[in-house]
Amino acid sequence: MIVESNVPLQPYNSFGIVARALHLVRIASEADLVALHADAAWRDAPRFVLGGGSNIVLTGDVKPLVLKIEIKGLRLVEETPRAWIVEAGAGENWHDAVEWMVRSGYPGLENLALIPGTVGGSPVQNIGAYGVELQDRFESLDAYDLETGRSFTLDAAQCAFGYRDSVFKHVRSGPNDFGLAGRAVITRVRFRLPKPWKAVVGYLDLERKMEETGNFTPDAQDIFDWICAIRRAKLPDWRVLGNAGSFFKNPTVTPEQCADIIARDPKIVHYPMADGSIKLAAGWLIDACGWKGKSVGNAGVYERQALVLVNRGGRENPVTGGEVMTLAKAIQTSVYERFGIRLEPEPVVV
Ligand code: EPU
Repeated sequence: MIVESNVPLQPYNSFGIVARALHLVRIASEADLVALHADAAWRDAPRFVLGGGSNIVLTGDVKPLVLKIEIKGLRLVEETPRAWIVEAGAGENWHDAVEWMVRSGYPGLENLALIPGTVGGSPVQNIGAYGVELQDRFESLDAYDLETGRSFTLDAAQCAFGYRDSVFKHVRSGPNDFGLAGRAVITRVRFRLPKPWKAVVGYLDLERKMEETGNFTPDAQDIFDWICAIRRAKLPDWRVLGNAGSFFKNPTVTPEQCADIIARDPKIVHYPMADGSIKLAAGWLIDACGWKGKSVGNAGVYERQALVLVNRGGRENPVTGGEVMTLAKAIQTSVYERFGIRLEPEPVVV
């Protein structure tokens, strides 16, 4: 097992924040995890699992042992009359995996094209966009438990998926609690892609694309291309302008709370949920507080989507994690003062 020291993390986080991993191990296979578990010097050390680094804010050098997941592999494992089951290594780039599936004739994840990050990160926060969430296409995953040294498989129910949430985001706090953060490393993910394939085009931006192009029966490749175009127009490319996607979750409120806000702000963007609660567009709330285009130091609010915080200093003079968090707190305070809603950050603050 090779433990690298003082590894620069700027290339490994999509904000482009400068920080170092005091110690880092590359995990290219399950065997590397077995070796880590067998190593008395490192086995019990605190750890931080790094996938694509597209959903983290680094606020300083990372002291826990960084496990950089580089497990590769893409294959069809099973085809039944009702689905294709495709397996991907946790270290595969998410977008490249989606593109490979669509091109290979295993459609179903095209609405999630161009989401930054790795396959292993996708179940952690149950990524979702344009009407599809990972849990809708999830079959199972393999993971390695660094405490027991055992591999295990979880189905969707065991992953406890929620909105941008799963068992992998929670630390176990008691004997009846199944939190796996910092303990389990996802090694492979299997997707269930239902047959016959059906387009998911209910989202407004996709309806617009159908009208624009006159193509009302798009195939998976059409949707893939449209999603790429929609995201490129609306969201910054982290390679050009560092960011971590949506910085806050869309909050949910009760219908009474929503009615109260509508009475004051009739234009508020809100969506009724299946469980009776109402989801509010956090981007709209932040925008309404006048934050779009504003900056604190090198941390800025993206001009075209107020939910995205960006690194205005580029790679030369990059934003610090502290600046990002100062801006995030200022936004939270003003949204709370105006709407009485506490916005919850989406990325993991390290
Ligand atoms: N809006 C504004 N001003 C803004 C931003 C948004 O008024 O500055 C309004 C929009 O006009 C729209 C509504 O808010 O009516 C919602 O905006 P949008 O359609 O851009 O979606 P979102 O709710 O902001 C969510 C996800 C995105 C995902 C899109 C598309 C979350 C936190 N974000 O954004 O996911 O791509 O829907 O499905 O759920 C991510 O998680 O990193 C991410 C980018």
